[in-house]
Amino acid sequence: MTRQSRRFFMKAAGGATVASLVGGSISFAQASDQFDKVPRIRLTTLPTACYKMNNMTDQIGGPDLYIKRDDVMELAHGGNKTRKLEYALAEALNNGAKAVVTQGGLQSNHVRQTVSGAAKIGLECHVILSNPVPEMKDELMGSGNYLMDHIMGAHIYVAEDGRGPVVEKVLADLTAAGKNPYNIPAGASNGIGSMGYVNAGRELVAQWKEMGISPSHIFHPTGSCGTQAGLIMGLRYFGNTTTKVMGVSVGGPAEPAMKRVRAVLNETCEVMGVPADFIKDEDIIVLGDYYGKAYGYPTEAGLDAVKMTAKNEGVLCDPVYTGKAMSAMIDMVKNNKLENAKDVTFLHTGGAPALHPYAKYFLT
Ligand SMILES: Cc1ncc(COP(=O)(O)O)c(C=O)c1O
Repeated sequence: MTRQSRRFFMKAAGGATVASLVGGSISFAQASDQFDKVPRIRLTTLPTACYKMNNMTDQIGGPDLYIKRDDVMELAHGGNKTRKLEYALAEALNNGAKAVVTQGGLQSNHVRQTVSGAAKIGLECHVILSNPVPEMKDELMGSGNYLMDHIMGAHIYVAEDGRGPVVEKVLADLTAAGKNPYNIPAGASNGIGSMGYVNAGRELVAQWKEMGISPSHIFHPTGSCGTQAGLIMGLRYFGNTTTKVMGVSVGGPAEPAMKRVRAVLNETCEVMGVPADFIKDEDIIVLGDYYGKAYGYPTEAGLDAVKMTAKNEGVLCDPVYTGKAMSAMIDMVKNNKLENAKDVTFLHTGGAPALHPYAKYFLT
């Protein structure tokens, strides 16, 4: 998104008025009304379910464990990107785009949900994919998300030497063809995309209140960091000052990921018209001990977490994202690494379609 279009967006959203919410001088309902001025299309039914994982709680011992089921949504197989796309695709339509362009790994869940959302609203979808695990090329191009992208009619470009130049070329070609393409960055992790998780934060504040719980921590996988940026903002903006958002890095050390969360947060603040220091540095927590070798390479603990959650709760995590994040939550709860742990919640961000290309890790 260009700076110019963001300004337009703020105007459409009533930007300056939104800034006045931060002082806490207005109610949740008023804050909600303001936030609902941000252009959005409905791509799924919300809220998603949140409930106690009775068997995991018994197995692990310690605080009650809850799960928020953002893996169950209406864009083909669902996941966290659906929420982000409600805002990104709204902007695409407002801009008069005829085509959407995005990018990711061969098994990107973000790409699959973008292809699904574009099909639903009648936009062409062009996706540029790269291979994060070269030795698994056949598996990654033979099933799961890649297969689904094909079935849903995506224009697929496999970039052997980096996605950037291919994205530029596809955008230029679509522009020349008069299709006014709308470019969604990897993971939809920019200010607009993060609105989806500001919305999720609002949803959780209301849902937890209704359930009578007050989670000390919420765990989720963090990759391109828009989910984390949006969730921190959503919780704090809608009045939750205590729940720690525990982003579990799925592909690299904590420090660069925290910088990336901050960078997306800066854009989030800009879109919402709140001061950049509204979220303090201590609110940005990324765990860098659970990703293993690199993005796309499973860990033993992550695979065990997938199996444990499946067998005890009938819930499918995946080896690339949610398995690694679940392994972090299990480790920290089991080994008393969380301060004042209470009603610890797992945000299930989806990803189960990637179980298929990784089948060999489970069929042994
Ligand atoms: C299943 C799943 N969980 C978590 C993430 C990470 O979200 P984010 O990129 O917003 O950090 C992704 C990103 O693609 C994902 O597919």
